[in-house]
Amino acid sequence: MADEVDKAEVQSPVSEGTAAEAVEPAAGVEAAPAAEAPRGQPAGLVPPAEAQTTVARAREERADAAAPATAAPEASVAWRTDHLPKGSSVVTAYGDQRAALKAELQAREKRVEFTRRQLVRTGFFAGGLVALTGAVAYLLNYFNPRDVTGFGAMFGVPANQVPPAGSNPVHLIEAKTWLVNLKPGDGGSPAFAVPGSKTGGALAIYQRCVHLGCTVPWRSDFAFGGEVGWFRCPCHGSTYTKGGARVFGPAPRSLDTFDLTVKPDKSLLIDTGKITLGGLDDPQRAKLL
Ligand code: FES
Repeated sequence: MADEVDKAEVQSPVSEGTAAEAVEPAAGVEAAPAAEAPRGQPAGLVPPAEAQTTVARAREERADAAAPATAAPEASVAWRTDHLPKGSSVVTAYGDQRAALKAELQAREKRVEFTRRQLVRTGFFAGGLVALTGAVAYLLNYFNPRDVTGFGAMFGVPANQVPPAGSNPVHLIEAKTWLVNLKPGDGGSPAFAVPGSKTGGALAIYQRCVHLGCTVPWRSDFAFGGEVGWFRCPCHGSTYTKGGARVFGPAPRSLDTFDLTVKPDKSLLIDTGKITLGGLDDPQRAKLL
């Protein structure tokens, strides 16, 4: 029975041509040796070796066609192409889909990479811009301070709080200032050859002793050199006239003064950020009210 099946497969359409070639080999080509006939079978019914190979290949094709569809696509494609002549190619629907999917994945990767790179670059430049803006703002604020309060800022003195001419100085604690209103000829010391103010007026004296920085008080009852009323430093005894001129002590110069402006309503504006170093001309710095 099996021998009848083999005989039928040799005569099938798949192997028909090959079987014919096996029976009649081409001229000049040595015929393939016939397979040894099974015992008890006539030698003419036994197919040659090449015909048997073709029959085996046909069997494999039928077996693969009947194989379940779960086989790997790559393997299926490889099976379909491995027996083709060199240079041949098979374009399958799966191959087209794979190419399209691969192109889509590559395009998506490019988009993702571009977005990430763009994000990093944008973040870098944004951070640099923020840092640069902060540095510029800091420098502008440092060199052009605004809304300065306390010592170093401007202090206004209403006209009704300005002491009368010739009276004792007034201490403006927050401004660290002694506000003096001199009469004409006041603020000097004849005993120490320091001339008084020619015109009289307001004078803003920095309270800080120019020796070592102690706060200098006004001593209205302190007598020195035959005169009464002096700025007398409690630390080392430096002594200054009501106009701030030094007459005694280790202080190297007279008391410093602040820039002062007299407004039309006779109020004063003291700029504690502008200091003029003291000198014997201190009384002459008074601004006429
Ligand atoms: S600190 Fe005023 S005299 Fe020395």
